[in-house]
Amino acid sequence: MNKKTPLLFAGIFGLALPCMAGAANIHTQVIASTCMSCHGPGGKSQGTIPSLAGLKKDDFVKTMKDFKSGARAASIMKRHASGYTDAEFEAMGAYFASLK
Ligand code: HEC
Repeated sequence: MNKKTPLLFAGIFGLALPCMAGAANIHTQVIASTCMSCHGPGGKSQGTIPSLAGLKKDDFVKTMKDFKSGARAASIMKRHASGYTDAEFEAMGAYFASLK
């Protein structure tokens, strides 16, 4: 690692963080697409698993944090929620709230 390496990392994160805050950028859409195999295309459920489209952002973020911490019991969602950061929950929440 030379002296410039920390600067390089600061540069990369400086670029990445504003991207992650966007409501429906590619990163968020790719994550969200992994949810849709169970929660339905476009976040609209075809079966008994609840829909994600149109959920209020704050409710979504709280639910995901509760799944991650184990505060809310889950059969499968703890495993999904554990893979994401709070910033990604925020971005996903804004995205699903925007789907009607
Ligand atoms: C393998 C199927 C599957 C996948 C993939 C999946 N979920 Fe779920 N989800 C469930 C099930 C089943 C529940 C009901 C709670 C439980 O048993 O875990 C649920 C519940 C939820 C809830 C609570 C909804 C409510 O109104 O109560 C949210 C929010 C949620 N999932 C978000 C997501 C997100 C975001 C992703 C993608 C990162 C995702 N899920 C991926 C199966 C899945």
